[in-house]
Amino acid sequence: MAPLTPVHFFSHGSTMMLGEESEAADYWKKAGDAALANNIKGVVMMGAHWDALGEGVEVATTVNPGKSPVAYVHPSKYADYKLVPDIEGAHKCIALLRAAGIEANENPNFEWIHDTYLILIRMFPAGCPPTVLISMNFRFDPHLHMRVGDAVRDLRKEGYLIIGSGGAVHNLWRNRWRPMLRYSDNFAQEVPPEPWALEFRQSVEDVMANNSGPQLRRAMTRLMKHPQYRDAHGTDDHFMAALFVAGAAGDEEDTGSYGELKAETWELTNMCNSQFTIGSWPKTLATAAA
Ligand SMILES: [Fe+2]
Repeated sequence: MAPLTPVHFFSHGSTMMLGEESEAADYWKKAGDAALANNIKGVVMMGAHWDALGEGVEVATTVNPGKSPVAYVHPSKYADYKLVPDIEGAHKCIALLRAAGIEANENPNFEWIHDTYLILIRMFPAGCPPTVLISMNFRFDPHLHMRVGDAVRDLRKEGYLIIGSGGAVHNLWRNRWRPMLRYSDNFAQEVPPEPWALEFRQSVEDVMANNSGPQLRRAMTRLMKHPQYRDAHGTDDHFMAALFVAGAAGDEEDTGSYGELKAETWELTNMCNSQFTIGSWPKTLATAAA
């Protein structure tokens, strides 16, 4: 059986996560280093800022994608970073999605947004690997997004790294923005996170750590019925990546492969940027000794 690459669910947080140092950013770099050490062929990613209208999803095929600008980050942190779209991989993903019965179309004009390039810059500061971006669907149906992850899952056997970039607790209306807006301090904790944020953050970790295979898919879907879900996610967009990840890492073959909380950074008091990885790279003598 071909070894499976790990799958990441990363919470990208605010735009300031691009320019500021944090435990989460350190883990993104570590995950990128491990991916390069294992010679990944490319990255397949779903973010939280691009949703397609209609019944299905879109896949970016922009040859020279621009970057939508980000607030509160100096342009030197991102302006010159060259994005490398994987056009061949994009067409491969479109074929896989269609074969799974999902409507998928290319979008040759998509400008990349910080939900994806923030993570790529942090993971691969020395250069962007070939990357495929898959959109969400605007209806935010959890089952569809899980099927999208499932449709591209086998790319893990070919050395592609699958990443969902969203958020564990991400409700912009419930964040405390004042320290960031006044002092550019996104990590200020003038008061503790509110109970609903702590409760939902714990539930996400419990689902990731205690479920694998198809049970992970069921548990992740169930989180959208959690009593604090709507407090933790004012909109569904930042949770879809978690469903995509559960699809990509929740096959029968993934049974026994549990998610691990690798790092966590709270921002704006109530936004919890949890970083999860499901699965691991094959152990080598060098890594086993580390
Ligand atoms: Fe976002």
